[in-house]
Amino acid sequence: MPGRLNHQSIIVTGAGRGIGAELAQTFAAEGAKVVVADVNQGNAANVANRIMASGGSAISVEVDVRKRDSIRAMISAAVKEFGGLDTIVNNAGIAQVRSFLDISDEDWDTMLEVNARGVLICMQESIKQMLAQGHGGSVINMSSIAGKQGYPTQAHYCASKFGVVALTQAAAKAFGPNRIRVNAICPGIVATDMWKMIDQGFRDAGLTKEENEAFNGYVALTALGRPSTPADLTGVAVYLASHESDYMTGQTLLVEGGLVFD
Ligand SMILES: NC(=O)c1ccc[n+]([C@@H]2O[C@H](COP(=O)([O-])OP(=O)(O)OC[C@H]3O[C@@H](n4cnc5c(N)ncnc54)[C@H](O)[C@@H]3O)[C@@H](O)[C@H]2O)c1
Repeated sequence: MPGRLNHQSIIVTGAGRGIGAELAQTFAAEGAKVVVADVNQGNAANVANRIMASGGSAISVEVDVRKRDSIRAMISAAVKEFGGLDTIVNNAGIAQVRSFLDISDEDWDTMLEVNARGVLICMQESIKQMLAQGHGGSVINMSSIAGKQGYPTQAHYCASKFGVVALTQAAAKAFGPNRIRVNAICPGIVATDMWKMIDQGFRDAGLTKEENEAFNGYVALTALGRPSTPADLTGVAVYLASHESDYMTGQTLLVEGGLVFD
């Protein structure tokens, strides 16, 4: 049976684990040829190997989204291996728990360098490739509920994720005439290593005492009353990558169990 992403060449950054790994595997199962890109080469290779072991097409690439040369090499690898680039998911990201007054200059720079500038450079370099190919493309940026609402324990993370929404809207307007669509996904409370680190950050800051207290506290606020798994995000990601969403651009889709109502 043909997949919904047959013949597409797709890059997923931060695909060595968590949400990115799940998206990469789902894209491959839908027929895409996937570049599994991560700063952690070993994790990226494991994900690519899993995809190939189940009959899919994938390569792994080491990328650091803070470095333009590294991003260019990632895109060249996609073009060389899979003949072009149709979709990129700018998913690589970091998080940190810091009370507002404690965010240092360095905390700010580190956060924005990966989560905002990293997304900008990945967008620029991938869009240049799509423009050269001349048949459009789909750019999917990973924002967050923190890109829609400020949270007092992670203001710099929120600023980076609001920034991702701004980049999404600006690029959608800039490249709509070239049929390059740019959309963002806002996950909520997803059970990944990132949230384990955030939960630990709450405890380190003395904001919570028990393991998973912060995690469960946020989950309790969702309308659906359960945490998200990376699999909850695959449906919307496949949709945004596929031609089913050909008339959608500049949008930010909240997939978070009902936590932030737009
Ligand atoms: N987990 C959540 O609840 C949640 C909620 C909303 C948004 N998000 C966003 O979704 C994305 C994925 O989150 P996750 O929970 O899977 O996180 P994760 O920490 O489990 O995975 C992130 C991946 O990004 C990679 N990465 C980090 N810095 C990088 C860099 N400079 N270059 C390349 N790769 C780099 C890491 O090695 C890791 O494999 C992030 O952008 C995150 O902000 C997550």
